[in-house]
Amino acid sequence: MSNYHIKQFEEYFQVYRKSVRNPEQFWEEIAEEHFLWRKKWSNVLSFDWETADFKWFEGAKVNITENCLDRHLQTSADKTAILFEPNNPNEEAEHISYKELHERVCQFANVLKDKGIKKGDVVCIYLPMIPELAISLLACARIGAIHSVVFAGFSSTAVSSRINDCNAKMVITSDGSYRGSKTIDLKGIVDEALNDTPGIESVLVVKRTNSDIDMKEGRDHWLQPLLDNASTECVAEVMDAEDPLFILYTSGSTGKPKGMVHTVGGYMVYTAYTFKNVFQYRDDDIFWCTADIGWITGHSYIVYGPLVNGATSVMFEGVPSYPDYGRFWDIVEKHKITQFYTAPTAIRALAKQGTEFVDKYDLSSLKVLGSVGEPINEEAWHWYNENVGKKKSPIVDTWWQTETGGIMITPIPFSTPTKPTYATLPFIGVQPALMGENGEELKGNQVEGRLCIKFPWPAMARTIWGNHQRYKETYFSAYKNMYFTGDGALRDEVGYYRITGRVDDVIIVSGHNLGTAPIEDAINEHQAVSESAIVGYPHDVKGNALYGYISLKDSGEGRDHDNLRKEINQLITDRIGPIAKLDKIQFTDALPKTRSGKIMRRILRKIASNETDQLGDTSTLLNPEVVQRIIDHKK
Ligand code: PRX
Repeated sequence: MSNYHIKQFEEYFQVYRKSVRNPEQFWEEIAEEHFLWRKKWSNVLSFDWETADFKWFEGAKVNITENCLDRHLQTSADKTAILFEPNNPNEEAEHISYKELHERVCQFANVLKDKGIKKGDVVCIYLPMIPELAISLLACARIGAIHSVVFAGFSSTAVSSRINDCNAKMVITSDGSYRGSKTIDLKGIVDEALNDTPGIESVLVVKRTNSDIDMKEGRDHWLQPLLDNASTECVAEVMDAEDPLFILYTSGSTGKPKGMVHTVGGYMVYTAYTFKNVFQYRDDDIFWCTADIGWITGHSYIVYGPLVNGATSVMFEGVPSYPDYGRFWDIVEKHKITQFYTAPTAIRALAKQGTEFVDKYDLSSLKVLGSVGEPINEEAWHWYNENVGKKKSPIVDTWWQTETGGIMITPIPFSTPTKPTYATLPFIGVQPALMGENGEELKGNQVEGRLCIKFPWPAMARTIWGNHQRYKETYFSAYKNMYFTGDGALRDEVGYYRITGRVDDVIIVSGHNLGTAPIEDAINEHQAVSESAIVGYPHDVKGNALYGYISLKDSGEGRDHDNLRKEINQLITDRIGPIAKLDKIQFTDALPKTRSGKIMRRILRKIASNETDQLGDTSTLLNPEVVQRIIDHKK
């Protein structure tokens, strides 16, 4: 009996119990009945927590694009697979059918092959939210190349370090990108990045903005003429279920970004299954996830999850505020969106505009609303529920991570009673645990601790590219025989989970994961800076904003502080991207430190959040007097 589509709360419990009682059998049934495999697995799951090795569907042969494309051709060739809504509302939306998408992916895949890309090669994709972005992912997957998408808001330094880390051979980019009223020179950023990337052999350039750009002879190629000459057929490479599908970088609390590696089989099964159930997807639905494909949300719930299910997935090129703050709602009305999946930061920004924009549009097509990327505060939750969902569309507050590949804790709409700010219950097959201060599991309800997952799930990242040791240490060394998420959570009296936020030095700003270490490294490059510490503080739209405490050499004597602030933010923009800019910068002569020389971020966090009454005992610090001086000069 298939458990592919869960429709009732009782059924959720039944299926959940079954999935944890015998995970292998459960996932085997799901995988067997709903996907196209070239060859079946010899083993559903093997794992070793000690060495951090996890294998799902070992021995199986599969190509994810045959599941996303080919198998829908018989039943729904003319159905829209990707519905592209351009930045400019006057430009016509593009409906790409499954048949057309199949052809365009094949053509693109043939171009990749023609340029020497083979199975196992890494291709870096740095594109705006245009159809070629989704197509390029699928084209890589078609031939077994590993895609590594870099969000097109990252700086040239961030691009080159990611390219070098995974030794990419090719970059796919565009001449430029549109974001609201701005045109961004993407190719210029890539050119700068490529000054320092010896492994790159070729660059494919999509024409989007008709900008005047440099094309380097022999290296750079306009994509369109190559596509025009390419066949619309391309035999799918037969992949092992455990071959890498993609790398996606995410911030760590220390060191450089981690290239999380996802593999073909388990990721396919899990993203498809979560998509179907978390959004209660049905055949005629029009699904819209507003994330950028540069993040995991876009990979899993714009591209792979929806397409494996044969859904219509909307891709939006623009921003929620252009041409005005009604744009999201205009798109919902225009395309009769049935599921709308966005981030709390967007909801807060739109709620700030009142209800004037949202009230203008007919949102009656909406059935399910989703939230992802950061905790959703109560006010935003209610605004979303009342003004967008009109109190009849359930909100699924979905908790997950780049590392988890797919949604992990979430309500099932129309089944799980929702509760504002709670992600509620584990998804099928997910076994959460809350861990206490002394490494013990906190059993029962009404407890709060560190969130771990104590059994493998199919879409878990398998390693960090080129650094399995770091993977093991980051995720599997804090607690024995479980995956540590880096988040804190509580379980309420009925067993619902509420994510309380990061417990490490990762700060979530506007739903984007930012590690403090790379930002501090960028700041410390400034010749006037001695050292710095970044902390997060609550912000009404972004969730968290960044507060930088920066100590200057020579105590900053005679320096123009305003100018310094600009220079420091420019450095951050150059090294990482504008998303990591500091909202507040406080210069100080020293930072509070423990006797062993560690910066006391906890205290700095309290000061930034105006919680100076909760500093605790500071007398054991190396330099307790600094704390008061910082408080006196707080920004
Ligand atoms: O802290 C959690 C937060 O986002 C982190 C993962 O970020 P990233 O890998 O960029 O993936 C974001 C999209 C899946 C988590 O460790 N987070 C994500 N979803 C939620 C959340 N925090 C609270 N509630 C959520 N629904």
